[in-house]
Amino acid sequence: MSLLDRLQTLEQEALTGLQKCNSPTELESLYHDILGKKGELTEILKGIKDLSPEEKKEAGSRANEIRANLEKQFKDGQIKLKEKELEAKLQSELYDALRPIPPRPGRLHPISEVQYQVEAIFSSMGFRIMDGPEVETDQSNFGALNFSDDHPARDMQDTIWVEGGNLLRTHTSTVQVRSMKVLKPPFRIIAPGRVFRFEQTDASHETTFHQVEGMMVDREVSVSHLIYVMKTFLRQYFEKDVEVRLRPGYFPFVEPGFELDFSCLVCGGSGCSVCKHSGWVEIMPCGLVHPNVLSAGGIDPTKWQGFAFGLGLSRLVMMRHKIEDIRHLLSGNLRFLKAFESAGASRVSEKS
Ligand code: PHE
Repeated sequence: MSLLDRLQTLEQEALTGLQKCNSPTELESLYHDILGKKGELTEILKGIKDLSPEEKKEAGSRANEIRANLEKQFKDGQIKLKEKELEAKLQSELYDALRPIPPRPGRLHPISEVQYQVEAIFSSMGFRIMDGPEVETDQSNFGALNFSDDHPARDMQDTIWVEGGNLLRTHTSTVQVRSMKVLKPPFRIIAPGRVFRFEQTDASHETTFHQVEGMMVDREVSVSHLIYVMKTFLRQYFEKDVEVRLRPGYFPFVEPGFELDFSCLVCGGSGCSVCKHSGWVEIMPCGLVHPNVLSAGGIDPTKWQGFAFGLGLSRLVMMRHKIEDIRHLLSGNLRFLKAFESAGASRVSEKS
């Protein structure tokens, strides 16, 4: 092949190669191979010295033409590739503040989810669901529940007072008071809701938490009814048979008053960290409704009797999901809530 032909071929090859370059770096290395100091063009031109003066002249000027053309093509090509690269980079980094966020299906908060399940279980035993205000009178939170004005048990409930001598209810027992006013005995009610205490917070104390109040009023209501209802509830809730035990407990509105424990489901009663190695887990204070409470509610205690309990709804949620810090529950932290997406979904669909 003559030197001129070789130059011609090189130009063609260079131009085809240039077309195929996808990035500035690729182009640079092709440039280096062809037009660089030790590139193919230099290599070909080394043969020029063996040509006749006529041929030298022609080859020389052709070589210059080719070099000039290729230099230009490479330069233009490089500009285009750099633009393309920048464009791609900008595209990939583009943040569109108006771009719609893909919708995530909403779900029940773990507290609501457990609350609805508790409601379903008690409804099946003939309990109706009642509600009451969160801002309450002293009378509904204390007075009508057999706390006299100077009753020391008022101190047990660290009260948050609001304007006008009212308070944020410290327990859902206020709904016992309200229910007695609107319902005629016999009746069975539960009342789930938020309660508030002026309290130092830690892993097991929160200023806002949830309870489910329960009350049954009938002609003859005894502790064995209370135990039966509680055992039935716990069996359905935990889907397991549980043992319960009563320890004495003091609340002005029940007499006798108890703390109801159930056998630890984690260790089966042999002792573990959940039950603090006692084999028993405290779940609800309860007792038989004090006659003074019935009287204050307009119910004749010589004709009617009742039991009441205050189930820790927050506790139930924590036990179900093995949550160790109560403060997570109402933190509003979406990452915390997201952890319950699958568990919650299955519970909800079980219900519906
Ligand atoms: N209201 C009580 C509390 O929150 C609990 C309770 C309810 C006790 C019903 C007995 C009967 O401390």
